[in-house]
Amino acid sequence: MLVKLNDVLKHALTKNYAVPAFNVFGYEDAKAVINAAEELNAPVILATNKVAINHMSMEILGSMLTTLAKKATIPVVVHLDHGSDYETVAQALRVGYSSVMYDGSQLPFEENIKNTQEIVKMAHAFNIPVEAEIGSVGYTDPKMGMKEMLTNPEEAKVFAERTKVDALAVAVGTLHRMEQQTAEIRYDLIEDIQSRIQVPLVLHGSTGVPDEDLKQIVKTNFGKVNIGTAIRMAFGQSMRQQMEANPDVYDRIELFPKSMEAVKQEAIKKIRLLNASLYQEVIR
Ligand code: G3H
Ligand code: ZN
Repeated sequence: MLVKLNDVLKHALTKNYAVPAFNVFGYEDAKAVINAAEELNAPVILATNKVAINHMSMEILGSMLTTLAKKATIPVVVHLDHGSDYETVAQALRVGYSSVMYDGSQLPFEENIKNTQEIVKMAHAFNIPVEAEIGSVGYTDPKMGMKEMLTNPEEAKVFAERTKVDALAVAVGTLHRMEQQTAEIRYDLIEDIQSRIQVPLVLHGSTGVPDEDLKQIVKTNFGKVNIGTAIRMAFGQSMRQQMEANPDVYDRIELFPKSMEAVKQEAIKKIRLLNASLYQEVIR
């Protein structure tokens, strides 16, 4: 079923689990992620970023993903990832997304607060929860020109209080698009942040987080854990292997089942580490 972000985050802080948000780019990976979540009876978040939206449009992604969500046997959130401006978020709300992120992390503090406040006002009028970011989770590729800045706990407190966001992305040692699980999580910083604010935290760049740390993270106030690169690699590597092994095949439909299975297995691994199936026991 299609649910809102708040619905699945409600118990995540008091119980030791987090809900994974997987970046999806089309039908195949979205369906594979849902298959994984259904197998484990866990809630899941389908996240669409700028690359996916530029490729398919939010209107088409929104209608396809909400349809998939409604047909699923588990709770599915359809989420706008790293929404860059007011109009992008407004469009997500119009086409039926059940959660939105506004990312003003590259802006000066006051400007990020002001823009986030406007987004929260609009999204809450639609009764849709908002995630925003304070500090900045950078990218492995410096050419992207994105700032990389650990979250200042006091700024996080002021930001959460003034914007009234429903979930807060904070930078605690990860980077986007890491291909190895070598991030060094700053637990001291997490402690400091969660001693000041109660809002559910969001971890970005979680492909780079070692398995042991994913297991630890669920015991903190992180309720949503974003994973993109791990399943993109699973899909892409499987496609490459198959094409090399079968140079005469040109119908992509013939190649998809194995790649979807690779995504499903990777998603299953992450859902297990995050203990997300626990959600079902908690709501009973
Ligand atoms: O917002 C999406 C994520 O932060 C995904 O990051 O691709 O490094 O796992 P990742
Ligand atoms: Zn991210």
